[in-house]
Amino acid sequence: MIIIIVKFIHYLAIVFSGGVLVGSGVIQSVYTRANQIPDTHVSRILKLLGYFGLISLIILWITGILLSNIIYGGFSINSAFTIKMIAAGLLLGLSIFVNLYVFNVSNKKIPPNKTIMKIATMSGRGLLVIVLIAAATAFY
Ligand code: HEM
Repeated sequence: MIIIIVKFIHYLAIVFSGGVLVGSGVIQSVYTRANQIPDTHVSRILKLLGYFGLISLIILWITGILLSNIIYGGFSINSAFTIKMIAAGLLLGLSIFVNLYVFNVSNKKIPPNKTIMKIATMSGRGLLVIVLIAAATAFY
């Protein structure tokens, strides 16, 4: 029963983090194409989405660590799982970096650097795809 509950939360957090990444990506690309900078309300939404993304990644780590230990008794499962953990770690690091960066620039009341945000969004998408492929391979 505990495995089912923890797995359910793991899946919920996957849906959530993916949704946040796609949602904020769509908002950003609409503004970039229109060559405009998001107004204060949209910036606030993007900031909140980034924060929710970070929370869902932390939940993924907590539930992932629990699942690995309960089901497999540790982290040495197979090499695909190791890749999944590395990519998930990089994703967590990226999310922490972006959140801190956005927090800093919004305190200074300047818009975030377009290039930094674009690279971060694209790397985030790429890493999420790697994690999902690695998960599909690891538990095949
Ligand atoms: C971005 C972060 C993550 C994503 C997108 C993700 C994705 C997934 C997916 C799609 C599955 C289902 C695989 C299946 O049951 O066939 C899964 C299961 C699992 N994940 Fe994650 N995961 C993430 C982070 C983590 C982390 C950090 C850990 C461990 C520290 C972890 C450990 C596990 C374990 C143990 C399972 C269950 C395997 C089983 O059912 O036997 N995950 N994850």
